[in-house]
Amino acid sequence: MTPQIQTTTQAVDQVFFLIFGISVVMLIGIAAVMVYFTVRYHHRRHPQPTSQVRSHLLLEITWTVLPTILVMAMFYYGWAGYLALRNVPEGAMEVKAVARMWSWTFEYENGRASERLYVPAGRPVKVHLVSEDVLHSFYVPAFRIKRDMVPGMDNYVWFIAPAPGSYHIFCAEYCGTGHADMITSVEALPPEDFTAWLAEAKDQAPDAVELLRRHGCLGCHSLDGSRMAGPSFKGLYGREKRVLSEGRERTLVVDAEYLRRSILQPKTDVVVGYPPIMPDYEGRIPEDELDAMVEFLRTLE
Ligand code: CUA
Repeated sequence: MTPQIQTTTQAVDQVFFLIFGISVVMLIGIAAVMVYFTVRYHHRRHPQPTSQVRSHLLLEITWTVLPTILVMAMFYYGWAGYLALRNVPEGAMEVKAVARMWSWTFEYENGRASERLYVPAGRPVKVHLVSEDVLHSFYVPAFRIKRDMVPGMDNYVWFIAPAPGSYHIFCAEYCGTGHADMITSVEALPPEDFTAWLAEAKDQAPDAVELLRRHGCLGCHSLDGSRMAGPSFKGLYGREKRVLSEGRERTLVVDAEYLRRSILQPKTDVVVGYPPIMPDYEGRIPEDELDAMVEFLRTLE
């Protein structure tokens, strides 16, 4: 790792322990003086006030200046820590994180996409944050980074994974029914393994499952029949389904036409028993990818 670069973890922890330390000293100091005064000046010892002191200039200056220095020190180190989080070190690798209800996709400059954030250990990574629908929040506790993802707003975070390993990524902004499912991970690899991973499958067209994953479908629809936020893909094709169309229930047979429509305009015919929460994909999926996905869903009888 480049020695002069401070990691986001270091930047935040230093400030945290400074403020925590000052708070502990103040807590113990104030509590101790309070207890001492309570005992020392108890009314049984001093039934009548005896002191004639009206003011004490030195004391007042002390208790004004000392706390001012303390809070300004906290501000200074807090500000320096904030700048460390916002100034991306040179040579950072760039990745785009796309969040949607309710899954993540990480897109690399060479066109590779993944549902986990693979990075080389020891190298700074700048993550562009993009939301396709509602508010989400990119949160990696291990690296002390958390940043809201606002639709239509450019934002970013950066971090260095100090060592190879797996680190949790959470969505930290309540974004609906599947919010708790928005868990994935940073997978930090040794640099040479990462280079190999990035190059791998680069020229291959992604298969249908990969497409379903990339477009976020698998965040809500299972392939094995288990119930998630939306109906499972398994055993869908060719079956009769009760759907709600413009407020009226009707029965239809799931065919290629229905699958297509349900991806592009999912609110047209909503399967009974599921809330109408899926976002429209009209204009968001290339035609050939849509065909590949529908074709694949037909095989899951
Ligand atoms: Cu996305 Cu909570």
